[in-house]
Amino acid sequence: MKPTFYITTPIYYVNAKPHIGHSYTSIACDVLARFKRMTGYQVYFLTGTDEHGQKVAQAAKALNIEPQALVDKNVLTYQNLWKALNISHDDFIRTTESRHKEVVQAFFAELYKKGDIYPDQYEGWYCVPCETFWQETQIEKGLCPDCGSPLEKISEKTYLFKMSKYEKPLLEFLEKHPDFVYPHERFNEIMNFVKSGLKDLSVSRPKSRIGWGITCPFDEEQVIYVWFDALVNYLSALGYKKHQDLFDRFWPVDIHMMGKDIIKFHAVIWPTMLLAAEVPLPKKVIAHGWWTVEGQKMSKSKGNVVDPYAVISIVGIDAYRYFLLREVPFGLDGNFSEAALHARYQADLANNLGNLLNRTLTMLEKYFDGIIPVNGAGKHIDKFEKPAGHLLADIEKKLADAAFSQALESIWEIIDLANKYIEEEAPWKLAKTDQDRLAVVLYTLTDVLRLVAAYLYPFMPGSATKIWEQLGLSESLSAINLKDIKLGQIPAGTKVQKGVPLFPKLMP
Ligand code: ME8
Ligand code: MG
Repeated sequence: MKPTFYITTPIYYVNAKPHIGHSYTSIACDVLARFKRMTGYQVYFLTGTDEHGQKVAQAAKALNIEPQALVDKNVLTYQNLWKALNISHDDFIRTTESRHKEVVQAFFAELYKKGDIYPDQYEGWYCVPCETFWQETQIEKGLCPDCGSPLEKISEKTYLFKMSKYEKPLLEFLEKHPDFVYPHERFNEIMNFVKSGLKDLSVSRPKSRIGWGITCPFDEEQVIYVWFDALVNYLSALGYKKHQDLFDRFWPVDIHMMGKDIIKFHAVIWPTMLLAAEVPLPKKVIAHGWWTVEGQKMSKSKGNVVDPYAVISIVGIDAYRYFLLREVPFGLDGNFSEAALHARYQADLANNLGNLLNRTLTMLEKYFDGIIPVNGAGKHIDKFEKPAGHLLADIEKKLADAAFSQALESIWEIIDLANKYIEEEAPWKLAKTDQDRLAVVLYTLTDVLRLVAAYLYPFMPGSATKIWEQLGLSESLSAINLKDIKLGQIPAGTKVQKGVPLFPKLMP
């Protein structure tokens, strides 16, 4: 039996169009999922959409259509984008699916039966765009502390979840699991937040006001709070209490990935819900930083929301994936700028990786009719042996900390080394003086490119596959185990298939 790895993105609100921020989370998860698959894990990579709530109901009403019709249409913007970006999720969950709704209702009923959910009267200030209640003490001038929208004062029946009861158990858990939240600064934030005290949480709303949500299983008049509903997706996708074998195989989840905006929901509320239901807690919650655009917060009103399609139509899918992960150390905020994107494209992709492939294949065609020469194998790899030998452990360690940028740097060290090797060996001179050495040099270069392609696959699946095919390799790259990728293994005698440049010059 393979070891398992369960990773999740947030389920995105279906009422807004996905932009670079959403794609960042999904791409990061995709890289981890692909890397785990290539290192012998059975992976369950889950993404999906959050489809309930007042905002959806209001938008549908404005369009004079049913909320379900609206979400059925909008969900496609996410599903199509993930296809376009080569996201390899194993499951896509929608909160309007019955497999989800049934689990949410059962989970809610279970906590009610236990006495951990109880009826109450709620008074508070509600922000419709954020779907969040605020305490009097948290607000100023009746405006939402998060988004600045005017708040609505609300008094109504609700059910509360006894979150307070789980304050101590959660603290004990956090003390025992200092790696639960990553990066570590976020862990400290969460710790301090829990220490400051947990209050009971309102987890249902009157149906008359919300109109679009999962009905409370024991009170027809109430719908379940969207965040309670949404968080349960991580269980319902695995068939909680229905498909026990699937559930047992993948739970507890290895990584919940998200932006720093929703870390409290995942590292405070969610664990207390799980404690109440006596379900083991997640292994790790990772929060990445926030993307701005040309130094500005992205917003519809500013009209500066970056559409992933617009970017990939210029630089391609893989340069986009590469840029997001390489440009910013994971966990920190990032700034998206066209200048930075173009600089990375030119320096790292076109001039470095692209050029290495292109030069190698051009020389092979010129000097050896495109056939990988027999036998350079094993003769010149000493230069590359050390970095290549460490590569798997190195990248495994970096990706365990979600240090995507550093993992890419490690791959690029080898690419740099190979480009230097060409300069040092000057094959165009060897062609006149030393055919044997020329064979060794070109064998070594294709061999190193094979290794590079295998390691690039999780990050840039399309480009890695193209490199692989241009090297004339037929094995399916996705089925390869990185543990089996060693130097000195590219089969001599293979005919390479030089193609169009991977990273062509950009139009100015
Ligand atoms: O919060 N920079 O959905 P959401 C980086 N439905 N990441 C960004 C970003 C930015 N500028 N903008 C969005 C929700 N993201 C809930 C989640 S989970 C049970 C329910 C990414 O559509 C980031 O991952 O607002 C952030 O956490 C998420 O999108 C929020 O997506
Ligand atoms: Mg949001």
